[in-house]
Formats: sequence, C-alpha cells, structure tokens
Amino acid sequence: MVINFICWPSTKPARILALLLNLVTMIQVHGQPPSSGFISIDCGLRNSSSYNDSATGLRFDPDDGYVEGGMRKQISQKFMADPFNEQQKTLMSFPDGSRNCYTLPSTIGKKYLVRATFTYGNYDGLNKSRDGSLFLFGLHIGVNSWDMVNLTNWGARTMVWNEVLTVAPSNSVSVCLVNLGSGIPFISSLELRPLEDTMYPFVNTSVSISHLHRIRFGNVADFMTRYPTDKYDRFWGNDSTADYPWMNLNTTNKVASLPGNNFFNIPSVIMQNALTIDMNYSTLSLSWTANPSLDTKSLRLLPIFHFAEINGSNPNRRFNIYSAGELLFSDFSPSRFQVDSLHQNGRFLLNPDISFLLNKTGSSTLPPLINAFELYILVRMDNLTTDSDDVNYMKEVKNHYNLTRINWNGDPCSPREYSWEGLTCDYSKSNQNPRVVSVNLSASGLKGGLAVSFMNMVSLENLDLSHNNLTGSIPDYELRSLKILNLSNNQLVGPIPHSILRRFQAGLLDLRLEGNPICSNVKDTYCSNKKKNTIQTMLIAVTVPVVSLLVLMYIIWKLCLKGKSDHVDYAMYEEETSLHVDLRRFTYVELKLITNDFQSIIGKGGFGIVYHGKLENDDEVAVKVLMETSIEESTDFLPEVETLSKVHHKNLVKLKGYCQNKKCLALIYDFMSRGNLQQLIRGGDDYSLNWEQRLHIALDAAQGLEYLHESCTPSIVHRDVKTPNILLDKNLVGIISDFGLSRAFNDAHTHISTVAAGTLGYLDPEYHATFQLTVKTDVYSFGIVLLEIITGQPPVLMEPQTFHLPNWVRHKIAMGSIHDIVDKRLLDQYDASSLQSVVDLAMNCVENTAIHRPTMTEVVSRLKELPPVVSSEKMSVSASTCSMNPMDAEIRRQFQLTISGVRTEENSFRFGYTGGMSELIPLSGR
Ligand SMILES: *[C@@H]1O[C@H](CO)[C@@H](O)[C@H](O)[C@H]1NC(C)=O
Ligand SMILES: *[C@@H]1O[C@H](CO)[C@@H](O)[C@H](O)[C@H]1NC(C)=O
Ligand SMILES: *[C@@H]1O[C@H](CO)[C@@H](O)[C@H](O)[C@H]1NC(C)=O
Ligand SMILES: *[C@@H]1O[C@H](CO)[C@@H](O)[C@H](O)[C@H]1NC(C)=O
Ligand SMILES: *[C@@H]1O[C@H](CO)[C@@H](O)[C@H](O)[C@H]1NC(C)=O
Ligand SMILES: *[C@@H]1O[C@H](CO)[C@@H](O)[C@H](O)[C@H]1NC(C)=O
Ligand SMILES: *[C@@H]1O[C@H](CO)[C@@H](O)[C@H](O)[C@H]1NC(C)=O
Repeated sequence: MVINFICWPSTKPARILALLLNLVTMIQVHGQPPSSGFISIDCGLRNSSSYNDSATGLRFDPDDGYVEGGMRKQISQKFMADPFNEQQKTLMSFPDGSRNCYTLPSTIGKKYLVRATFTYGNYDGLNKSRDGSLFLFGLHIGVNSWDMVNLTNWGARTMVWNEVLTVAPSNSVSVCLVNLGSGIPFISSLELRPLEDTMYPFVNTSVSISHLHRIRFGNVADFMTRYPTDKYDRFWGNDSTADYPWMNLNTTNKVASLPGNNFFNIPSVIMQNALTIDMNYSTLSLSWTANPSLDTKSLRLLPIFHFAEINGSNPNRRFNIYSAGELLFSDFSPSRFQVDSLHQNGRFLLNPDISFLLNKTGSSTLPPLINAFELYILVRMDNLTTDSDDVNYMKEVKNHYNLTRINWNGDPCSPREYSWEGLTCDYSKSNQNPRVVSVNLSASGLKGGLAVSFMNMVSLENLDLSHNNLTGSIPDYELRSLKILNLSNNQLVGPIPHSILRRFQAGLLDLRLEGNPICSNVKDTYCSNKKKNTIQTMLIAVTVPVVSLLVLMYIIWKLCLKGKSDHVDYAMYEEETSLHVDLRRFTYVELKLITNDFQSIIGKGGFGIVYHGKLENDDEVAVKVLMETSIEESTDFLPEVETLSKVHHKNLVKLKGYCQNKKCLALIYDFMSRGNLQQLIRGGDDYSLNWEQRLHIALDAAQGLEYLHESCTPSIVHRDVKTPNILLDKNLVGIISDFGLSRAFNDAHTHISTVAAGTLGYLDPEYHATFQLTVKTDVYSFGIVLLEIITGQPPVLMEPQTFHLPNWVRHKIAMGSIHDIVDKRLLDQYDASSLQSVVDLAMNCVENTAIHRPTMTEVVSRLKELPPVVSSEKMSVSASTCSMNPMDAEIRRQFQLTISGVRTEENSFRFGYTGGMSELIPLSGR
C-alpha cells in the first residue's frame, strides 16, 4: 500500500484561528522581551507607525528608510481574515526598476538569518498566480542570487517564505527583488535576526545557506514554532499527527547541549519531542517530493540532523544514516537527554531524490528516532560587492544631487547586469572588488555645487557632468586618477583651481568647461567648444610627450638629413677611444657599406632609425643609428655599450658591434627575421599568432625584462617596452630590443631624453606624474603589451571612440564577457581557463600606482603557472558556451514532505505522514 500525502496549500480559517490562539497562549507562557538586534519590517505598512505583533511580541516597523520606491498595497479583502500573521496583510510592490533593494543595517562579518515572506493575496486583482502564466521573480542576497520566488499555480492566500543564513559583507545586508519579466515583484515582510558567530560554522563570507526545510518532530500543538521559543526566531515546521506505525515520544526532562557545543543552540523544548516507528520496522525515511519543475540533480544539499534519546529507560538504539545510498554516519547512538547534531562540516551533498534514510543496525533493539531536522541549499557568494569607499562616495553623490534614478539602488557595480545606469565599473580583477571608473551624469538635471565625493574616488578616470545646472566654483581638490573631467554647459564660475589647471597643463587631464560663465573671458582650449580632435581626448598623459616626440623626430630628421648630405664629415670624426669589449667596432664607412648606403629602413624609434644590413659573411644585421642633439650628451654611450655587451640573455637582442664617431652613434644587432610583435599582431591577415605562441612570446619578453631588472646591477630599466620593441627570431622566440638605451642618455640632461623614453599608450601614469623612474615603469608597459597580445588591439583605440586599451578592456568586460576582448583572429581557439588569469595579470601590471604592480619576477612566475603553454591537444573553447547560464543555480521549487517507514519485511510501506496538515497549511517553506 502506498499512500502519499501532498500538501498543496489551501486553508481553513477556523484552524488558523485555533493556531493563533495557541501561539498567543504560548507567548503568555514564554513571554520575554524582544531580542536585541532584530529588525522586523512589515512591508507596505500604511500607518507609518510600528506595532507589536500579537503572536510573537516582536515590534514590526514600516519600510521607511529601508527601501526607496515601491508601492504600498494590501491583500484583497477576501483574504484579510486568513493570514498566518499580521505582516501578510500589506505588501510592497515594485512595478518600476529591474532591481529593488532593501538595505538593513548590520555589523560587518556577523552572521545573520534573513527571512523574506510573500503573500500575494491577489492585491492587484489580477489573479496573477492562477491565470496560467508564470508568476515569479528573483531574490538576491546582496550581490548574489539567492533564490527565485515562484508563485505560479499557488493559491493567492499562500504564504511563501525564504530564509538564508549569511555573513554580512559590510555594515549593511541588502535583499533585492529582481524583476525577471514574469510578474511584478513584491514582498510582505522582511526580518533580520543576528546569530551567534559560533553557529552554523560552515557559513562564511563566500558560502551562505538557503533554507529548504526545518522541522521539529513529535506531538506538538503549534504547527509553527518560532520566537520566543527559539530565541533566534528560526521557523520550525511541525509534523504532529502520527498514526501507526509512527510513534511520538516526549519527555519533560531538560535536553541540553554539551557545554561548548553551541553550533545550533536548538531550544530544549524542541528536543524534548521526537518521532520514531514501531518496533516492527527498521527504517525511517525522510523524503521530499519535489515539484517536477525543479532540477534536483544540481541542488547542493546540507542536512543537519538533531538527535537526543528521550526514552526514559536505558535503550539500545543504534542506526546508520544514508544519503542517496552514501553512508553519512554509521552506528550512531543518540545520547540520553543530550543534543547530538550531526552534519558533515559543511560538506554539500548531491541527492536528487532529496531523501535520507535512518536504518537500524543489526545490534540495535530499537528503531531510529529523530527530534529535529534542517535542510539547506548552498548559496554561493562569489560575486563581490563594489569597493566600499566607492559605494560610500556614490551614496554621498546620490544624496547630494537628490538622484531619484530608479536603478540607483543596491550595489553600484554588482552584479554586472544590475549596475547603476551611467556608471562604468572595472571588474577585470577577479579577486578584487569592482571599482567605479567612469560616471556619466550628463543632462541629469543636477543642481547646486559640485559634489566633492567624486574627487575622492581613487579609481575614477572619467567624470561627465556636462549639461546640468551646476553652480558655484570648482572646489580645489587634488585629483587622483581622473583623466577626463567634462563640466561643460553648466553655470560654474571661476577661478579654476590651481591643482586642476596644473594637471591640465601637464597633459594629465582632459578638461572641458565650455558653456560656463567661467569661460566668459578665458580663451584656453578647455573653454573652446569646437569639436575636439580625437588625439586630445586620449585618456593618458600624452599631450606633452607627443609634442616632445615631434620635436625629437624633427631633430633626428634634421640630423639624418645632414648626415646623408655631407657624410664625409662623419668620416673625419672617427673617435680615437676604443672600448675594452669583445665587440667589433665599425667605422662610418663600413656602416654605409653594410647598409648599402642606408637604403633599407626597417624601423624608426625614439632613438633613431634602424637599417637593414648584411655583413661580409652574409649575416643579416640591424643597424641602429642613434642621433643626439649634441654629441656631448652622449658621454654615457660608451660605458653603456660596455654594459650592454655584458648583457646576455636568450630573450634580449644580442649586440654584435658598435660604431662611434662625433656625429653619429650606431649599434649593430642580430637581425630578427620575423620582424616585431606589433607587425605580427596587427599585420595582415595572412599570418596570425595562435594563443600558445602569444603566451610563449609574452613569457619570453617577461623573462628578458626580468633579467634586465633583477640580474643586472644596477637594474636596467628599459623605459620603452612596446610591441615594436619585441622582436621575433625565425622560431618565433620573443627577443627584447632597444633596452638600456635610455641609460645611454643621462636622465638629468633634458626633458627630451626623459620624454623620449616612452611611447604613446605605454606610458606609466605614475612616472609621468612624478618622473620617478623605476622598474615598475616597464611593468606598466609590459601590461599594455600583454593586453595587445590578448586583444590584438593597439594601445590606443581610435574608433569609434578614443579608448586607452585598459579602459577598452574594462568597458568590454563590463558590457559583455571577458571573451569579448579576445582577438577575433584567434577564432575562439584559446584556452578559456587561462584567459582570466592572463587578463588579471595584465590589469595588475597596469595599476595606476607602481607599488600595486607585480615585479617582473612575479609576472614570469604567473605566466609560467598558466595551463601548459604548449598543450599536446589544443583546447578549443567557443566564447558563447563558456559564459555561465545565470539560471543554473536556480529553479528548485516547493517540496512536499513525506516521511515513510520501511518495514523490515519485503513489502515496503510508505506512509504520507503529513496528514491533516495538507488541509490547513497556507504556508510553504519555499
Ligand atoms: C491605521 O491606524 C488607524 C488608527 O491608528 C486604524 O484605525 C486603521 O485601521 C489603520 N489602518 C491600517 C491599514 O492598518
Ligand atoms: C554573479 O554575477 C554574474 C554576472 O553579473 C551573474 O551571472 C551570476 O549569476 C552572479 N552569481 C551569483 C552567485 O549570484
Ligand atoms: C507524552 O508521552 C506520554 C506517553 O509516554 C503520553 O501519554 C502523553 O500524551 C504525551 N504527551 C504529549 C503532549 O504528547
Ligand atoms: C537497512 O538495514 C537492513 C538490516 O540491517 C538491511 O537489510 C537493509 O539493506 C538496510 N537498508 C539500507 C537502505 O541500507
Ligand atoms: C529631493 O527630491 C524630493 C522629491 O523628489 C524633494 O521633495 C526634496 O525637496 C528634494 N531635496 C532637495 C535637497 O532637493
Ligand atoms: C537650468 O535651470 C533652468 C531654470 O532654472 C532651466 O530652464 C534649464 O532648462 C536648466 N538647464 C538644464 C540643462 O537643466
Ligand atoms: C514555476 O512554477 C511553475 C509551476 O509549478 C513551473 O511550471 C515552472 O517551471 C516554475 N518555474 C521556475 C523558473 O521555477
């Protein structure tokens, strides 16, 4: 015989009333003051005054101050008499916005139970839960998805609740309702209950658990036990109508936990009752019938069994506990009048049938018993909240301008798809909190003075407040990382603070002020409203270097012109001194000969022109002719050549010889037949590097730089790391060139020599702000190279919008997925698992502040850690299949409880144990 009771909800008002009476009685018995730290919100409460709940004695408050927006509603008159509690009578509905969040004050790092309840009550008269269409919405705990509230096909009076045990990530915990396009989200009540830090030890900042079931057993009158019986206000459902072969046990003896066992703090009253089966049976089975729409295969379950032997005599009761055939606990014997809570230290189980067996062992005389049971589902807290400073600054801004934008709600950047409108966030570092890099509040009707919070945001690079009604003057603030400040078309008056002007003049800030009173008598470029050319909008400090580079190029051009016209002069200037190095010294005439009169130019750089040449033995060489403004400045040249002659590394270009005369200095290197990395990455479509080759070359270059930084004393700073300076030999081995030349020119000399050491797009912003040259300057440039290797894009993109490559990467990742940044020429043939690590590494290298960048040694080891760079079988991943389906962790539904006993005999006997409850419970645990 198989009897299965399924408790689809419906209600009988008379029973509810009885129940409430019971609860009231209980309060009188156990009455005690509300626990401190409880936050209880009766959502949608119209009378904006708090009240004490008659059943629990807890004070419930209206929503004010916890949520913005929303509409106060009450359930239809028809259901007013039914609700399990007062809080179900009103609700807050959120027709606007895709995400609406309640923010509850909390203590960072503390553990809480958060419970939300939902009673639809046909408040909108649309009969949404029974009109045949889907009626569901999402629930987030902070920036992570918690569950889905699926009210499809449920009676309007059903109360559904969700509970999560979580650790507060900051000084607030937020609960967000997410509109999934299948009905308007609403909420009836929201409760926050502090737990002891010792409780539920497996709950931590990255793991929360969502309640699936919490039941107490035995013959108990109240069908729901909560506060004040449970001082943490956990909801304990109850199954009390036991028919044969079920047996209820009870005791009046106190059932205590062992001192020091405070993981669960189950009230003694709950442990004083238990359920067992007749002696003729051996197996007690706890199982739940899941809604068929629920994918139970993917659920990660965490069961907690609470046992205490409450039989008066001294019984022999031993049993095994199984989950999906796996023996969880063997030969367990409950202690007398003492709580034993069995769990597997936070191990989550797969158990598609959601059933657990308690099986009497051979030596046991009594069948199993159970006092209480909890079942949770894993909620991963993988998504990080926005950097807390940024959050606070953004909140200040929001208050300052009284912004009522609907989606400026909850966390500013996270999760990505619900980030605040107008913000661009940087998610590129997977283990760091997202940061705000750009804020666009153009034409947002802002009034009043400039909000100073913006100026304090460390990562903000782009601020657009144009076309508003901002008044007053610009406050004098030390800007941090701001690169674009657009204040055009406001009512701002002068003067422009010195700190801002200085950054503008240094080319570190793109400032726009046109259309402000401040510009009435200023003629500077920041006040001209002509369309700016794209170069000017470049995000990085390029203005000054560009000008300087042009000057330098002009000088080089002049000198070379001169050199070509009257090279005879040069011949007369051959220097007497010779180096004590094992290098061939060339004369100018020899150079002319091997380069075929400087016919074939293979490159141009900040230091001169590179010609192709062929030695007498047909060895191909690259001849780099260095030009100087005046030869006196090159006093460091020879010592430097001496140094370079000692630098030997497989990833550094080899110096074969040099030439020195009064007007022209030259270095002769091995010729690299595959050209440079820039040509290969962005050259024609005929040849493109594959993913392994790219990573190989990155590692080669990194090792070359590491050698310069770490193995040379003093360290050699390259100063002009860029893809054109990474050459490739015939085997595609990456070889760094042009190193050390910067040191051939004394730092102190002129600012031209300083500025020349760097190329547009690769410039370390800190170096250009401070002119402090360190090895980290190379690390920055290397980061840009790495990004070019991944994306195939130039360091500065012009179309359709000017973008510095790191920002472009952030932007792309923010708008889509990390796979969107990968060079299309790779045709999705890359190892997806290494992509995130490489991007992380690159973004780490291009940190604004040098100290946050890794050293080259670290870079090398991180590149080496990547999955085998050359894999025997190439991994191929298509970008689209890689992005996680956000619904994966979702979709489990209401469960019905059946508890069955299995007879020792062959014919098994399943007994739906929930009897009358299916008739009266308007509640559902989820
Ligand atoms: C609001 O409060 C008044 C009196 O305080 C009461 O009469 C009224 O029923 C309350 N309304 C609601 C919706 O609770
Ligand atoms: C984290 O965020 C991503 C993208 O914003 C989302 O797809 C994912 O579901 C989130 N993860 C969790 C656990 O909420
Ligand atoms: C407690 O158990 C005894 C038998 O052991 C039974 O007579 C009594 O009715 C039970 N009390 C309750 C409240 O179930
Ligand atoms: C329960 O125990 C009995 C006897 O010890 C055994 O025959 C049976 O296979 C067990 N059932 C399970 C599911 O382990
Ligand atoms: C903010 O906006 C609200 C309504 O949108 C208005 O009542 C309030 O006066 C505004 N506050 C300020 C400081 O502008
Ligand atoms: C600025 O305010 C004036 C009235 O005070 C209004 O007419 C104008 O449209 C506002 N300008 C912007 C850009 O909001
Ligand atoms: C919601 O519940 C309905 C009815 O049980 C079911 O058909 C549907 O698949 C569920 N949807 C989700 C997303 O859980």
